[in-house]
Amino acid sequence: MLEPFSLPEIIEGTNVILYKRDHNYDNEMWLAIDSNRKFLRSYLMWVDRTDCFDSVTNATKHFNLAWASQAKFAYVIADKCSKKLLGSIDIHNIDLDNHSAEIGYWLKEDKTGYGYVSDALRQLEKYAFAAKINRLVISCDSRNRASANVAIRNGYKFENTNRKAIFAYGDFYDREIYAKLVNE
Ligand SMILES: CC(C)(COP(=O)(O)OP(=O)(O)OC[C@H]1O[C@@H](n2cnc3c(N)ncnc32)[C@H](O)[C@@H]1OP(=O)(O)O)[C@@H](O)C(=O)NCCC(=O)NCCS
Repeated sequence: MLEPFSLPEIIEGTNVILYKRDHNYDNEMWLAIDSNRKFLRSYLMWVDRTDCFDSVTNATKHFNLAWASQAKFAYVIADKCSKKLLGSIDIHNIDLDNHSAEIGYWLKEDKTGYGYVSDALRQLEKYAFAAKINRLVISCDSRNRASANVAIRNGYKFENTNRKAIFAYGDFYDREIYAKLVNE
């Protein structure tokens, strides 16, 4: 079994900087979610529940506690120069028994198409693998080609499709599983 591990609170990428999610980004986070609702809600089921500023501060509290207990690590993705929020990336479903974890992410719609999530992912991966994680998983709705392309573009291998594993807005959808192993 892997020992619980920590990750750095700040990680620098090429064009992005990752900061441990904290209350200093709550306002930008709320504005980003509220003004990108239509874009984000298709594949992120928490978006509709994020219906006021307090829901963002509560989520940040949750992520802070999770960070402290080494259960998951949530970062804001910020522009390296301006420090403005671009989106979010996190490591969750950390399975110490099996040395594996899952990565999730989102960007503001007008910040897609620049490679920012790929930049963040490459950095976070480095630290996860250095912490002895052996397997990282990206899973997405099979309709979400933008997310699948992030996985593929960054060397994750398609493994399988879990049929009708996602329930979204009254219908069931397939989930695709992509994974990268430590030496790949
Ligand atoms: C999934 C999501 C994060 C992908 O964003 P993205 O900007 O396409 O992803 P990347 O950061 O990898 O950028 C790749 C794009 O930037 C372009 N790009 C420009 N410079 C680049 C660089 N230096 N490196 C990599 N890609 C670069 C790529 O060509 C690609 O554009 P294309 O898709 O038009 O070919 C975004 O669509 C999103 O937030 N969706 C809504 C939330 C969501 O679905 N989250 C995932 C749930 S599983």
